[in-house]
Formats: sequence, structure tokens, C-alpha cells
Amino acid sequence: VNISVTLGARSYTIVVERGALGSVGTRLRALGVGSRAALFTDPEIFRLYGASVIESLTHAGFAVATVELPGGEAAKTLAVAADGWNACLAAGLDRSSTVLALGGGAVGDLAGFVSATYMRGTNFVQLPTTVLAQVDASSGGKTAVDHPKAKNLIGAFHQPRLVIVDTATTDTLPAREYRSGLAEVVKHGIVLEAAYFDDVEASSDALVARDAATVDRVIAGSCRLKASVVERDERESELRMVLNYGHTIGHAIEAATGFRQLTHGEAVALGISAEAALAVRLGLASAATRERQERLLARLGLPTRMAAIDPALVLDAMARDKKSRDGRVPFVLAPEIGRFTVVDGVAADDVRAALAAISGR
Ligand SMILES: NC(=O)c1ccc[n+]([C@@H]2O[C@H](COP(=O)([O-])OP(=O)(O)OC[C@H]3O[C@@H](n4cnc5c(N)ncnc54)[C@H](O)[C@@H]3O)[C@@H](O)[C@H]2O)c1
Ligand SMILES: [Zn+2]
Repeated sequence: VNISVTLGARSYTIVVERGALGSVGTRLRALGVGSRAALFTDPEIFRLYGASVIESLTHAGFAVATVELPGGEAAKTLAVAADGWNACLAAGLDRSSTVLALGGGAVGDLAGFVSATYMRGTNFVQLPTTVLAQVDASSGGKTAVDHPKAKNLIGAFHQPRLVIVDTATTDTLPAREYRSGLAEVVKHGIVLEAAYFDDVEASSDALVARDAATVDRVIAGSCRLKASVVERDERESELRMVLNYGHTIGHAIEAATGFRQLTHGEAVALGISAEAALAVRLGLASAATRERQERLLARLGLPTRMAAIDPALVLDAMARDKKSRDGRVPFVLAPEIGRFTVVDGVAADDVRAALAAISGR
């Protein structure tokens, strides 16, 4: 499936296809970019998929330098970005050259940041290999490194020229990593499209079993929904806030637990559960709407309850949210499956009650 992201001069295609990594070279050639490229990846992903990507690129006439990053979040520092700039310089990259990110969201964010800043911007290609990166991080153009005090604090908008989602790469994902990405899939269904949510619900067993046709259809559907939001709000002014569903409380839980116990997707699943409870408490949604969300998350192996957490820690983390305006964070809530509404000025007591509603077990 080819999904187009229409953004005027910055338009690009998201290719969703099993085995698509083998076509990187010819697809990049077709964009008419310069012949030098740098492939940013981590050692584990390089071991799994590096050879086929390099082969495809060299076959299409590209000179490729490989830049190995530390695995996971450790890649997202200014020191690693500086290594990346040095590697681009050593490989003779210029503004017509291309930086490619082969890996999860961390590789994508770091490589995208290097691509945005090196010579004020090179061509950038995303080759996402985690579910999260495929359905969320690889499209939209947000790039970042972390600040010691806050994740993703330093960054730039820099749209890719091309996104290639090879769904076969999800076969090698550890179970926990795979499930975590599905939290974003559920999020897209809840706030953007009831029919998509229905499909994910009806396919949940096949999705857990990683049935190829189901994985391909669900990932493509989620990419399409993300693309439609990015098209309508490239710079995250209003509509794109919808993608924050489950993240206002989810991010705060992640921060309050020190980014260690939970994966991002697990924190988002808990955030969705809490925000679904919040919507019920505020009289915006029915109990049945809340239950349907929790039931699907649970079926996909995601947590919907957690050991009691100090609400003060969560409220504190929420106050530092990048989305806050004058210290108040707007909440995206789902009045029913497939619809969203933005609520400003949610009281601390209501957040405490939502946290209480997901504590237990
Ligand atoms: N830019 C955005 O819009 C955006 C959106 C959401 C998240 N993010 C960022 O994404 C990051 C999280 O991304 P993530 O969840 O992909 O985790 P990740 O990038 O940290 O990768 C997790 C682990 O999975 C391994 N891995 C990746 N693909 C694999 C595969 N196919 N087989 C086996 N192992 C594989 C990696 O080596 C790594 O150790 C965070 O830094 C977050 O801030 C960015
Ligand atoms: Zn997320």
C-alpha cells in the first residue's frame, strides 16, 4: 500500500509492504537525490536488516556510510548527534545527500535531528522497524534529542522525503516491544475512526499471533490515520493534539516512574485507561465506552491497571508537559469510539480520581 502525505513541497509517500526494505535503493533513486547517503542504525538492527538495505542502496548506485548508534533511548543525546554530524562530514555528505534511519523511534528521532541540522537540512528517509515507529514516529516530521531534564526537549520539525514500512521487520520484535506499539494503534482507532477500532477489535487474536495479513492491514490503517492528521496539521497547532490521547497522563506516569518500569506503549495503555475513566467522570462518555477501550488493550496484552502511584508525582510531571499552555495541559478525551474532544482546565482532583480508577493489582 502507498499512502501519500500531502504537504505541498514537503509531500511524501509512506510505503507499507512486506519486504519493502529491498526496494529502498530504487525508490530513493526515483527521488532524484544525490548519490551519497548515511545509514543510521543500531548494532542489533544492523545485524538483522543492515545487509539487505546496504545492498539495495549500493545496487542503485549510492555510496553508503553506516553510522552505528547506541541501542534505544541512549541514542538521543547531543553527544551522539555530534558523532552523527562528524560521520556525515567524513562521508562527504552535502545538502543533496540523504540520511536514512533504520530502526525504532529512537534511531528515527536522532537521525532525523542530525538530518534537520547538518548543513541546515539534508534529505531524510525513515525505515522504521518497530510497530511504534511504523505507525507513529516515522511520519509527521518530529525529530528530537533528550535533555537531561526532559525527553524530546531539543528538536526540529523535518519531514522525511520517503517512509518505507517493511512490515516483515515486526517478526523479529521482542513480544513486549511488539505489544507496546499496538497501544498507538488502539489510540488511533479510539480518537480517529470507529471502523478501524472495530477491525482491530475483531482481529485482536490474529494481531497478537502476528498473522501477516492482519499485521499488514492494521499497520497500513494506522499509518493512513496518522498521515491524515499530519496533513491537516503539520506543525501540531490544534488537530494534531488528538494524537496525544492517552499521552497526557501516560507521559506523566512514564516520567513519575523514572522511564524504567514501563515501556512507552505500556504507559500509554495506562494513560488511555485513566483518560477513559476521566471522560466518564466528567460526564463526557459512558461506562461502556471506557470498558471497550480497556477490554481491547487487555486483549492485546497491554496493562490497564497499575500499583497505586503517588498522584502528586504524576500531577507534577503533567505540569512540565510540552503541550501545556501557561501551566495547564489540555486533555484530549473520547466521548465515544471514533470521536474526540479537547477539554481545558481539568481539575487536579479529577486527575487524582482517574489515577485511583486505574490503580489495583
Ligand atoms: N518523532 C515522533 O513523532 C515520535 C513519536 C513517538 C515516539 N517517538 C520516540 O520513539 C522512541 C521509542 O521508539 P521505539 O518504541 O521504536 O523504541 P526504540 O527505538 O528505543 O527501540 C527499541 C528496541 O527495539 C530494537 N528493535 C528495533 N526494531 C527491531 C526489530 N525489527 N527486531 C528486533 N529488535 C528491534 C532496538 O534495537 C531497540 O533496542 C522514543 O524515543 C520516543 O520519544 C517519537
Ligand atoms: Zn506515543
